Amino acid sequence: MTKMKVANRLNEIKPSGIRAMFARAQGIPGVISLGIGQPNIPTPNGLIQALVKAVEGGDNYYSPTRGTTKYREAIAEQNKRWYNLDYNPETDILATASGCEAIFSSLMAYIGPGDEVLIPDPSFLTYPRQVILAGGKPVWLKPTDDLKIDTSNLDQYITEKTKAIILNFPSNPTGELMTESELKPIIDLAIDNNLVILSDEVYERCIFTDQTHIRVPKIKGAYERTVLLNSFSKTYCVPGWRIGYIAGPKELVDPIAKMHSFVVANAPSAQQSALGDFINAPEGDEFTNYLRNTLKERMEKIVSGFNSIDGFTCRTPEGSFYAFPKVTEHKDFTNSKDICELIFEKQKVALVPGSEFGPSGEGYIRASFGSISLEQIDEMINRLNQL
Ligand SMILES: Cc1ncc(COP(=O)(O)O)c(C=O)c1O
Repeated sequence: MTKMKVANRLNEIKPSGIRAMFARAQGIPGVISLGIGQPNIPTPNGLIQALVKAVEGGDNYYSPTRGTTKYREAIAEQNKRWYNLDYNPETDILATASGCEAIFSSLMAYIGPGDEVLIPDPSFLTYPRQVILAGGKPVWLKPTDDLKIDTSNLDQYITEKTKAIILNFPSNPTGELMTESELKPIIDLAIDNNLVILSDEVYERCIFTDQTHIRVPKIKGAYERTVLLNSFSKTYCVPGWRIGYIAGPKELVDPIAKMHSFVVANAPSAQQSALGDFINAPEGDEFTNYLRNTLKERMEKIVSGFNSIDGFTCRTPEGSFYAFPKVTEHKDFTNSKDICELIFEKQKVALVPGSEFGPSGEGYIRASFGSISLEQIDEMINRLNQL
């Protein structure tokens, strides 16, 4: 067959190591998979029923580009209820076909050739790749020893090309949160240099400490320059539904809506209807409490399990559903990728090398406890002890 030349932009990005591990682990008997970041907790019944009702009721056609009024009003109501944060459903909210699309349409709207985007190191591997696809350049923000953003010398990252900063707390892959006072210097940096803040808060309901989630647009001075990126994949265990949203002041959202209209045209209609019915109903909040408690139990088990292995040191994640142990002291360590390969080959445990998430992820491995039972955690730790 004739070999077709693909666009250069694709040669500039590496395939996702998470998806690669997910594909490899599929269909191999006995594999324990801690690769992909999705919760296996059953989708709440009320939400499923709402989707069935929507499909049977005829919500199978295009919706308006920005989403249905019902969906956008429900999102405004939830932001008001949870954070006392005001968004106008008419102008400030855009329904997206997933969190990934929310990030992509935002970057495509704001980032042009050569523009620089500040990204926490390590972070969700889609960010640098999408920045490159938009023609921009990812610039890594060095972490502190506990893998938060080191805010001691932020000015070093700024050039005349710096256009935006991505934030993601609770973080994938580190599980770290940042407090309002820790975030303040970053917001000030954005204000002083006129940066757009893209705040990805998809793990807002997966927090294991007493700290309540910090909505970045609530921090003084942040609202007018922050695009809130969100998704219901994790919050209500519907990653296959591909549904999320963007919220921000109209002036920030309008260009993203224009891009979105040519990428996906609209978010899935029936899903908008179901979530519109569900997210402010009592069952919705009951579910997210149950989700957090279930994940917390797994988190405690996996962290103490990792810390019992010679050469592994694991911090307690404050949120998300990832453990991110440091493995540099392990007898088989040469680099993150090789040790993941070895673990997969010898013990059929699928993990993701920390280096997939940025240069500072080297020396770590990421274990998703979203889709694993307590028994599987015991079994996985047993296997790793036999390496
Ligand atoms: C930090 C972060 N943002 C966004 C997403 C994308 O979520 P989705 O596209 O399923 O809405 C993920 C998925 O793993 C994530 O970890």
